[in-house]
Amino acid sequence: MRLINTKDYNDLSRKVANVIASQVVLKPNSVLGLATGSSPIGAYEQLVNDYKNGNVDFSGITTVNLDEYCGLDGTNDQSYRYFMNDNLFNHVNVDVNKTFVPNGLAADLDSEGANYDELIASLGGIDLQLLGIGHNGHIGFNEPADFFEKATHRVELDTKTREANARFFESLEAVPTSAITMGMQSIMLAKAVMIIASGKEKSEIMKKALYGPITPRVPASILQLHPNLIVVTCDIF
Ligand code: F6R
Repeated sequence: MRLINTKDYNDLSRKVANVIASQVVLKPNSVLGLATGSSPIGAYEQLVNDYKNGNVDFSGITTVNLDEYCGLDGTNDQSYRYFMNDNLFNHVNVDVNKTFVPNGLAADLDSEGANYDELIASLGGIDLQLLGIGHNGHIGFNEPADFFEKATHRVELDTKTREANARFFESLEAVPTSAITMGMQSIMLAKAVMIIASGKEKSEIMKKALYGPITPRVPASILQLHPNLIVVTCDIF
């Protein structure tokens, strides 16, 4: 595990963007696993600047996002497809046909999950997977459970997760109750994983995830077993 402590959120965002940009420079046809949420917003902003300054070319990459709410289509501004378009894809030269987000509107979510896993495998797996962490230790929407779920699957969202995400919606009731998320296999098979966390309120769960027992009760703890884990933090330690 490589631990990068940064001095503030801007510094964290710059360093996270630098790792992603280096990945793309070194391997222009990289498969990037991407996350939504508040944590990566600054890094995406930085990547947009890097693109505009001519420092990085996204034309060869493919992206696969971790998760999506069930019941929201891509035009809904709370959907993760909308978030990705709005924060990154619309502002860089990525081929939008090579950006993938699980389809939370699929009639058969089991098939959607299986197809998503097949897609990732057919791309040769993920080169670099970016992750945030939930207050309950979730990664993607893999909530605390009795076992680690391997495949992309539908998940009932934890009350804590819905409460934490209510800040993006009009009310708690408006937060979808379920989502579709990449499972642990695609995440753990990524050639590199970068998890980012900032702020005191993530401190306890990050310590549990990185240094506590490996347990599906703290889903991110499985990352201790990843051979190429990059942890970028500010205000955690
Ligand atoms: C988002 C995702 C989630 C978030 C996590 C942290 O695609 O998969 O696991 O990374 O909920 O969210 P923030 O960054 O908003 O604290």
